[in-house]
Amino acid sequence: MKVTKYMLFALLSVSSVSAYADAITAQKIADKYAATAKAVDPSYVGLSAEEGKTFFNREVIQFKGDVNNPGKAIACASCHTSNPADPGKHIVTGKAIKPLSPVVNSKRFSSVKDVEKKFTKHCNEVVGSDCTPQEKGNYIAYLLTEKTPSKK
Ligand code: HEC
Repeated sequence: MKVTKYMLFALLSVSSVSAYADAITAQKIADKYAATAKAVDPSYVGLSAEEGKTFFNREVIQFKGDVNNPGKAIACASCHTSNPADPGKHIVTGKAIKPLSPVVNSKRFSSVKDVEKKFTKHCNEVVGSDCTPQEKGNYIAYLLTEKTPSKK
């Protein structure tokens, strides 16, 4: 009986930790980017959620190598919406995207490897090159501030 109670307690505490684990992991990933940014940039002053927000919403023209057909302007927000605590929608496939903020979606930013892969892919697609460690760190710092889904 005692054992069962203890196990239940252990289970409960594990699940209550995991509700926050992702924001914690996200913070750790942001810290990692911060360390890299600091190592490569002597003028580094820290991560900026403010700049992360600007970056998230900044529209970039998709240049596909054809001056007569420059493509349309898209931002991270085009698919992830301007509130990363909200579900997004893929602008090409129309598929739903779960919220990007690790505060409301515990599955986000749980693996350094996956995050790095997604960043490289999406940065190349949207910005045309990989984002810098500073930009990635700012981005996560910003997402961590978005905790409230919009009222519908
Ligand atoms: C064309 C649509 C689209 C645009 C534009 C877009 N994304 Fe995404 N993004 C997605 C989809 C779809 C997923 C989620 C796949 C999934 O649910 O695992 C995703 C997931 C991510 C993830 C994964 C987080 C995690 O740990 O699960 C990161 C990081 C990310 N996007 C960064 C960016 C950045 C940075 C930009 C802007 C430079 C951007 N995205 C723009 C569609 C987009």
